[in-house]
Amino acid sequence: MKRGQDVIRILMVCLGNICRSPMAEFIMKDMIEKEHLGNRFYVASAATSTEEIGNPVHPGTRKKLRDYGISTDGKYAVQLSRKDYDKYDYLIGMEQRNVTNMLRILGGDLDGKVRRLLDFSSDPRDIADPWYTGNFDRTYDDVYEGCKALLTYILEQETEAR
Ligand code: 4NP
Repeated sequence: MKRGQDVIRILMVCLGNICRSPMAEFIMKDMIEKEHLGNRFYVASAATSTEEIGNPVHPGTRKKLRDYGISTDGKYAVQLSRKDYDKYDYLIGMEQRNVTNMLRILGGDLDGKVRRLLDFSSDPRDIADPWYTGNFDRTYDDVYEGCKALLTYILEQETEAR
């Protein structure tokens, strides 16, 4: 069980790390800042594939987050690696297929850290994928709902651990 004041480390994961998981990373960071919890959390994101490594965040995600005053400057896609398992407390896939790929890269999930973002919500499902639809509005709504649910879950866990 985590001690009350440890930094809680969250890694958001999708296929390319340019659309959904950076959106989740930066929405989560913004939510945490607004709750004045910035010193309690570390949030990052990564890809399961090598496809987009080194690339900046997709213009669709950048534009949508800009509407909310959130910048993704300085973020470039990186790949998930096996050693991330020890570095993070929560490794969060955007869809079931991400979770399958994450388990392959990580070599399993002995500590039960790997979850799907919207499994923390009251309506468990995959995050809408904007890659083929271009619909970043639906993705934003899903990601926001998931981040809210995940943050609520973690804070409840913390309260119970005290
Ligand atoms: P993401 O979006 O996984 O949300 O970053 C995608 C990025 C790249 C590809 C598919 C989805 N791709 O096929 O290369």
